Amino acid sequence: MQISLRSQYPAKQIGLPGGKLELSWKVYGAPSGASQIAYELQSALDADFTIGVKMDQAKSSDSQYVVAPHEPIESREISFHRVRIETQNGWSDWSGVHVHETGLLSGAELIGLAIGDESSSTDAPPLLRKTFQITKPVRSARLYATAHGTYDVMINGAKAGDHILAPGWTPYPKRLLVDAHDVTNHLVEGENAFGVLLTDGWYRGKMSFFNMLDNYGKHSSFLGQIEIFYEDGSQEIITSDASWKTSTGGVRFASIYDGTTMDMTMAQPAWCKPGFDDSGWGPVSVREINKLILEPLSAPPVRVKEEIPMVLRQEADRVNLDGSQNISGWVRLTVDGKRGDKVVVRHAEILLPDKTLHTAPLRAAKATDTYILGKDGVQDLEPKHTFHGFQFADVVSDAKVLKAVAIAITSDNEDRGSFESSHKLLNKLHSNVLWSLRDNYVSIPTDCPQRDERLGWTGDAQAFIYAANTLVNENAFFRSWMKDLALDQFENGKVPMVIPDILEIQHALLPNGAPFPDDGTAGWGDAAVVIPWAQYLSFGDRQILVDQLSSMQKWVDYFSAYCVDGVFPAEMMQLGDWLDPDAPEDKPFLAKVSARYVASCYVSHSARILAGIESLVGSSANAEKYKTLGDSVAQATWNLLGAEARKSTTGCSLALEFEICPDSERSAVAAELAELVRKDKGAISTGFLGTPVIMDALSTNGYLKEAYSMLLREEIRSWLYPITVGATTVWERWEAIQPDGTPATGGLEGHAEGSEPSMISFNHYAYGAVIDWVYRNVLGVASKEPGYVSAVLAPRPVVGIESCKGSIETGYGSLAINWKLDGDALVALVNVPFGIVAELDLPVTESSSVSVNEHSAKNGDKLSHGEYQIRVTNASIVSTF
Ligand code: BGC
Repeated sequence: MQISLRSQYPAKQIGLPGGKLELSWKVYGAPSGASQIAYELQSALDADFTIGVKMDQAKSSDSQYVVAPHEPIESREISFHRVRIETQNGWSDWSGVHVHETGLLSGAELIGLAIGDESSSTDAPPLLRKTFQITKPVRSARLYATAHGTYDVMINGAKAGDHILAPGWTPYPKRLLVDAHDVTNHLVEGENAFGVLLTDGWYRGKMSFFNMLDNYGKHSSFLGQIEIFYEDGSQEIITSDASWKTSTGGVRFASIYDGTTMDMTMAQPAWCKPGFDDSGWGPVSVREINKLILEPLSAPPVRVKEEIPMVLRQEADRVNLDGSQNISGWVRLTVDGKRGDKVVVRHAEILLPDKTLHTAPLRAAKATDTYILGKDGVQDLEPKHTFHGFQFADVVSDAKVLKAVAIAITSDNEDRGSFESSHKLLNKLHSNVLWSLRDNYVSIPTDCPQRDERLGWTGDAQAFIYAANTLVNENAFFRSWMKDLALDQFENGKVPMVIPDILEIQHALLPNGAPFPDDGTAGWGDAAVVIPWAQYLSFGDRQILVDQLSSMQKWVDYFSAYCVDGVFPAEMMQLGDWLDPDAPEDKPFLAKVSARYVASCYVSHSARILAGIESLVGSSANAEKYKTLGDSVAQATWNLLGAEARKSTTGCSLALEFEICPDSERSAVAAELAELVRKDKGAISTGFLGTPVIMDALSTNGYLKEAYSMLLREEIRSWLYPITVGATTVWERWEAIQPDGTPATGGLEGHAEGSEPSMISFNHYAYGAVIDWVYRNVLGVASKEPGYVSAVLAPRPVVGIESCKGSIETGYGSLAINWKLDGDALVALVNVPFGIVAELDLPVTESSSVSVNEHSAKNGDKLSHGEYQIRVTNASIVSTF
């Protein structure tokens, strides 16, 4: 038997927070029939478990988010943890050791000064530099760093660590993150150079559709230190301080939206190496950074995820590059040229029919990287501290373009789901949704990666959260972002539409006030409640419920207070079922279903979820209060608005999924929904809030045929149509490209001056929410109780899909299924990991017989860990219309 152990933090990350360490373990190779009846956890301060040993034993089957006996409360502390379990066969061996290294737990431990230069956001970004001597052998060394802006630390010419756009985007005045790296191997005996490239990033770079600069401040600054621990037991700390020097180099401009300009004739190639003559460099400016709000990074950083070779096509005046995948990132270009040659790379998600870049959807984001070569010969070009949303690029170049690679970045969440069926377009849909997730989880969950936006829209994150949980393990990422949501939540409970709330900051900066009036909007603000709940259901994480409880209460209290006689008022501006395909192109909030109904449904939904959360981690009085609220709003809403709502697919779907209509009317509403879907031949007629719920509203109410007809539809207004015209990510609008290849304009009212009047991204994940349904119904793997501790095996084969295999990497291990149709029988190989009990919910007909490992079985039977062969004769196979 083997046990692997992890904590709530990303694996292999150091410099983590202290406090409660929550451990989870996976058990492999347990004898069949065995189950965990007890566990023993040990923590120690040495790898041999002899110093500061603490242990906890419990008669319990728990194995997820179990609190370690040792709570790290000291900075820089390395603690060691292991577990063993007792089964009916006795105690196991110890697991592998989990090592936890804390960062600096109080910001004041970053003892240096924040430094920068006097540049403004339009000037060349500063290089900062200092040297120091090492005269004796080093045992280990750590770098701790943060910035107002984004930075790379260079030690002796090499970048420290692989984090991109550090320190990431948080509500900077309230929470600023400190990254940590093991830099032992960077240091040398003799002179060492500590260099920093400091750019504007989200801090003072151009942000939002208002394209405003200096949102968080006019000056960028860096704060960091290298802590050296010598073999002889002594220590030294090299900090950022007034002794540093500053200059500029090859990077003349770096902006997240606009790209970078790099003039390598101005580069100082050895600027971050020892021995460099910095006598011409000036003094740094010392700045204030509030050290009280510093915190160790707890989520995965942004990293390079994939490198994709691009195809080069020579046009008369340019070279067109195709990476075959819409990504977030940049192009690494290899050119052969001469000093002084200019190379300009522009990016776009799609090509127009005439094969030119379609840049209108970028609005004011220039997404252009410009280089002036600093030397002759073959050389690689890569931009700094920017990213673009693109599949295609055009290079206009004096130098010869030899090679191009698309570098895809993302917040480095571990993959969790895998899916492959016999249906090629469905597989591509899965891939497209996963790519949209990767491309849009860049430090925070964003709406899109290409235009002058890339903001943490709460509604998009909320709509997509169940799919996200199925595809990747982003629990640490969302714990961190939810913390930011609570920080940026208004006193009165209002949840902003974007987190970090840059729109509120811009509102304060703009002379004429509100750029974006908002009193809270349903489906967006509800991220406060829905996301923690989704994390609990998918990962079994109770802590996030505890941490977010007061934020959820505040939101529900605030938003429900608008209701009059249990129904949301009609007058209040809402985004509603945003981007309903039948809404006017330039008024995406004018959906078929009234925004008032949608908002009322969300009040009820969030109140009921909160009632459930209160009964788990809060008070029973509150549970009662919120349940009564949720029920009464549902009833009043249905009485007043139900008749109108049931005329639209989103209206019916919310009624069913959020239990707004009474039980007595469910079957009638479901039948009406199915009728609407049939009338539209399965064409999608829902927006951001209807789309994530329509499939379950159909399938759990007996309309699998209609659900599958929607899923497998290939004509326009469907999930698969975009793939038939080349999509590699999920689009913002269902009809973004017409069958003849013409892109829709995506016109939008009230756009910012100087930008294109359009809102049409080819990389928005909200509609990809359907992939969660695909895992539960096509693959047939679903969680029944939080964290998959009890799961359901429920594949629903359909004509057109003959086989499907895939898995979910749960906290217990891989829950996997591989099924295929054999004539009219369904045969499946299933793997249930230790700790999970999987219930059979197989597609049977009246004449089916079911066997598991050749023993007769039936639906409702439960499988504990092990591998199983399942056969269902005369299986029920859904047909589509
Ligand atoms: C974003 C959306 C967002 C919406 C709300 C758009 O510009 O891209 O995804 O939720 O605005 O207004």
